[in-house]
Amino acid sequence: MESRTKTFMDPLVALCKRKGFIFPASEIYGGINGFWDFGPLGVELKNNLRDAWWRDMVRNPPVGPDGRQLQIVGLDSAIIQNPRVWEASGHVAGFTDPMVDCRTCKARFRADHVGEMECPKKPSRHPGEHDACELTEPRGFNLMFRTFVGATSGEDNQAYLRPETAQGIFVNYKNIIDTSRVKIPFGIAQVGKAFRNEVTPRNFIFRSREFEQMEMEWFCHPDEAEEWYDYWVAARLNWWVSLGIDSARLQRRDHDADELAHYSTACADVEYSYPFNAPGEFGELEGIAHRGCFDLTQHAEHGKTKLEYFDQERNQRYIPHVIEPASGLTRGVLVLLSEAYREEWVPKSDDGGEIRPAVHGEKPPDGYEARTVLRFTPRLAPTKVAVFPLLKNKPDLVHRAEEVYAQLRGHWSAFYDEVGAIGRRYRRQDEIGTPFCVTIDFETLENGTVTVRDRDTMTQVRIAIDELDGFLREKIAG
Ligand code: GAP
Repeated sequence: MESRTKTFMDPLVALCKRKGFIFPASEIYGGINGFWDFGPLGVELKNNLRDAWWRDMVRNPPVGPDGRQLQIVGLDSAIIQNPRVWEASGHVAGFTDPMVDCRTCKARFRADHVGEMECPKKPSRHPGEHDACELTEPRGFNLMFRTFVGATSGEDNQAYLRPETAQGIFVNYKNIIDTSRVKIPFGIAQVGKAFRNEVTPRNFIFRSREFEQMEMEWFCHPDEAEEWYDYWVAARLNWWVSLGIDSARLQRRDHDADELAHYSTACADVEYSYPFNAPGEFGELEGIAHRGCFDLTQHAEHGKTKLEYFDQERNQRYIPHVIEPASGLTRGVLVLLSEAYREEWVPKSDDGGEIRPAVHGEKPPDGYEARTVLRFTPRLAPTKVAVFPLLKNKPDLVHRAEEVYAQLRGHWSAFYDEVGAIGRRYRRQDEIGTPFCVTIDFETLENGTVTVRDRDTMTQVRIAIDELDGFLREKIAG
């Protein structure tokens, strides 16, 4: 069985471009491989996911095994740090991917992806399989982007764009202990950009060279680290389910010993079955690593600073151990889009009836038409509600619709549309995943009620304008 690249991934990528979710970066110059720009809807979706993470991690953290709410504080550290940070963390020496070059066509491939890549020599084959191919032995290729700080560009002022947000947390550990009255166990959370010069960026925004991470470092007593590791692996998997991701497309995968990163003594991934994965296969969404005391020990040594913690309750001094749930915000957006995207056959009358999954390459049956819909969990949808006057050439309807729009947009990300037949306006909102459409019609002028149409069931209810806010709050927050 094939992956769903042609039938699902390609149309999804096209929709993201067409509707303003995600564009290839610097497209008018031919793009740049591995970089993407988020358009008006994409940035709303990404911010909604980021805000959900921040709220559930920092503002209202989960409850721990003892029934008490955990203590997690936020941070926003600089992207460029002193380059010695990356020597201490091991990234300068060891953050590499094995790569091979072809001496003939000058193309470069990740050594462990050769079997899945195409050789640029046609007829297309895998690298190394064409008669003319001449591949080098695999060599380590450091993934960090380098830059220069200040006016000159020499070894002395070379710096790196951070390849992970985590190290900004470790180097601020002492600042936070000294200023925030946190006590072990506690966490520091950060969301932000990370940069990796991936040898083979691919699968849309799944593996890009500039992306965002949502990372939290959980500092705890060494004797309790195992228990916290188990806690966070379970908690993180459940969090993705709480966002409406189908648990059948999520799985936990424990790393084998030979896969572990240099700093980690145990690691489990939350994996998702992406549309480009073959059936039964999954790809990484989040990693939960037991980092032990590696990072703080390294920074204590390299930074010549004491990073021990004095535990008053135990009357002990120690370097805390760290459990790290590290997820990709950009990759999370791909999961939300993949989870939401549907091609359906729907009754033409648009007032209820059986909705069927479309069969790829076939026409809808009589009385049905095709629709594309993004069935986002309402609280994550980029636009929550659209407002339409039934007819745009009736000033009373337009005026009332504008009033309702002004009322709603104070609380919700709302959209106003008066162009085209009402059915077409519904379809346009379906395609961008707006959960509710409010229509102002002649009955509105008589009795102050509007219709609210539900994206998923396509059914409509009539409610009073005064009740709209409460209705949306219940449907969206609930
Ligand atoms: N601090 C640990 C760390 O950075 P990682 O597994 O390398 O661990 C964490 O990265 C998450 O960041 C991944 O699970 C993935 O979601 C995301 N990520 C990593 N590399 C990425 C890339 N090139 N493009 C998009 N997301 C990426």
